[in-house]
Amino acid sequence: MHKTKESLHHIFSDNLNQVTPSPIHSFSERVSQIPNILKLTIGEPDFAIPEHIKLAAVRAINADDSHYSVSAGTMKLRQAASNFLEKRYDLKYEAESEILATVGATEGLYTIFTAILNQGDQILIPTPAYPVYAEMVRINGGTPVFVDVSQDGFILTPSKLRQAINESKGCIKAIVLTNPSNPTGVTYTDKQLRDIADVLRETNILVISDEIYAELNYDNSHVSMAKYLPEQTVIVNGVSKSHAMTGYRIGILAGPADLIEQFNKVHCFVIMTPSNPAMAAATEAFDSELSWHDTAQMKQAYQNRRDFLVNELTALGFSIAKPGGAFYIFAKIPGDFIQNDVAFANDLVDKQQLAVVAGSGFGPGGEGYIRMSYAASMAMLKEAIFRLTAYARNVRQTNVLISHAEQQKIDSF
Ligand SMILES: Cc1ncc(COP(=O)(O)O)c(C=O)c1O
Repeated sequence: MHKTKESLHHIFSDNLNQVTPSPIHSFSERVSQIPNILKLTIGEPDFAIPEHIKLAAVRAINADDSHYSVSAGTMKLRQAASNFLEKRYDLKYEAESEILATVGATEGLYTIFTAILNQGDQILIPTPAYPVYAEMVRINGGTPVFVDVSQDGFILTPSKLRQAINESKGCIKAIVLTNPSNPTGVTYTDKQLRDIADVLRETNILVISDEIYAELNYDNSHVSMAKYLPEQTVIVNGVSKSHAMTGYRIGILAGPADLIEQFNKVHCFVIMTPSNPAMAAATEAFDSELSWHDTAQMKQAYQNRRDFLVNELTALGFSIAKPGGAFYIFAKIPGDFIQNDVAFANDLVDKQQLAVVAGSGFGPGGEGYIRMSYAASMAMLKEAIFRLTAYARNVRQTNVLISHAEQQKIDSF
């Protein structure tokens, strides 16, 4: 074990000192050690990558496609991404100048924040939200400004947005909109997006539209913010969730050419270029007719799981804003259970070896909720409901015994 020289302990930037490790990951890692643990914590598709996509990566390796590509990504991939955005969402982006291939959506998001943030600039984040945004903002010297939308069905309303903009007095540089949402699974309707766009059009606020779950929209067709605000929006998307390709690490940014050009300045100094075999696989994923079939099959499976979980959790007393997309359920803990979400999640692990994520980790408005990921097999979900039912039975029997004992005490006076 090497020890850092004592005087280097304070070498880290003030920005990094603002950052706290994710409670979600530390919880998930800690519970992994517990025997018989059932984890519904992480949003990681459980499907194998379709064979034709794997073969595209293998072909690239066998063809010695092993040299640096251009930093924006191969033209084939950018063209495939451009075709994908047009076919699926009726969005037109020029492959050459308006698309950047990134190392997952994660690097795309980080690149945007690095490119736009000066010290103290504000980024508006409707919460509960994917916790990564706020930490990326802090690392880059910005300040996350949270708008709690839990009382509005987890949807940002024009009036809440207007209020946040007025309170910030011109300091907000961008807003992050996640559609479909992690952690709530809610999706924005066409009208909701249009109404938000009407407010934002009057401002100089950039929309960072995280649409990584766009292909997993169960009840409606996905609508992108770029439909209403193309000159002010950068789309973040990729193949991680839609094609179960999280480990390949390919994402895309799509936006006006001058924005993409500036983002590429950051991107090329940080990662040089994404990996060639991964780009070849992502090209196949975006472009091949077979992919529509793969995605449709996965989507149907997720939808069945969502319906199962929503019904079962509701029957157990959880309340849920029905998730229209992604693969998460954000459920309000029933009133007769432990109300502190962190304590509840720990108790569920202790008593039933079932791990779900405490809602407060997703920011203001997440308190009192849990997030369950249904990127897990139906057998696992059935077992999870079995354990949760046993948990509920024990809690409720104990509550009945306690209230019975209390009543007897009152009667004896
Ligand atoms: C909302 C959201 N954006 C981005 C990501 C990261 O995607 P990628 O694996 O492509 O980096 C995730 C992963 O969970 C996510 O939930």
